[in-house]
Amino acid sequence: MWPKGDCSSASATKSCCGSSNPVTIVYLNGHYLPLEEAAISPLDRGFLFADGVYEVIPVYNGHLFRLAQHLQRLETSLAGIRLPSPHDSEEWRLLLTELVRRNPTPDQAVYLQVTRGVAQRDHGFPARTQPTVFAMPLPAKSLPDGVCRKGVAAITLEDSRWRHCHLKTIALLPNILLRQEALERGADEAILIRNGMVTEGAASNVFLVQDGRILTPAKGPWLLPGITRDLIVELGRRHGLQVHEDTITPAQLAGAEEIWLSSSTREILPVTRLDGRPVGGGIPGPLWRRMCQLYQAYKAEYAP
Ligand code: PDD
Repeated sequence: MWPKGDCSSASATKSCCGSSNPVTIVYLNGHYLPLEEAAISPLDRGFLFADGVYEVIPVYNGHLFRLAQHLQRLETSLAGIRLPSPHDSEEWRLLLTELVRRNPTPDQAVYLQVTRGVAQRDHGFPARTQPTVFAMPLPAKSLPDGVCRKGVAAITLEDSRWRHCHLKTIALLPNILLRQEALERGADEAILIRNGMVTEGAASNVFLVQDGRILTPAKGPWLLPGITRDLIVELGRRHGLQVHEDTITPAQLAGAEEIWLSSSTREILPVTRLDGRPVGGGIPGPLWRRMCQLYQAYKAEYAP
């Protein structure tokens, strides 16, 4: 999950098992408790209907990375499924900061999920139900050896998801099936195509380099506005790189000099094989390297 090793300046790899705190503490509806003691009713609408939303927030050196942006997207997702937020931003910040304090691994991520709560099974919204709020730490994992030297493989697949991909909902079955198909075909990610447009990866955003310019699909209902994506756009522009948000066709993708995938858990990954053919020279490209440096420098500044 974590691009430690040859992608980042740090050489040490991270794993859950080296933690000095073997008990994972989670947050559930107002309580911090060991993961083993956390229990949710089978009538929870998250379980029965996937009626909920989530966030995955990286933690670097104990700091919740780009928390304001993640909370803003959480608000958008909650509003998009018409679920009033159970907390304001300050309450979310305190809740998550306390969770990190109780799980003191410097580099990890926090998974946060909000569902419409427990009610008798009925498709319509329940009248008076408290949302279920659950948060847990996710351990940092290393990428397989050499990923940042050799890159990863991707295949293109038809985007079979719904029309509200800008909401980060827990209804991830299409994403799971698409990712699994990629894995079974020897690739690491599926890059999705809808109506002749590249949208995003099964669990990542997509960038490409064409004629020395960085391109990424423009935001809209067909893709998640990734926090990592936005930071890449921001950093690129701040440092004088040409970054464009526009429609991208499969032909542009196939002819790209470089392709990257971005996400909070894997940062920026170079794709060096697409549909079995090399991307550019078949090795990670110079603009990917430059963007990784900018990203790592920003992280170091953010979480000193
Ligand atoms: N997913 N698009 C999709 C469909 C995703 O699931 C993700 C991340 C992204 C990248 O967004 P961000 O940069 O904010 O992580 C784009 C997370 C990591 C997950 O589901 O685990």
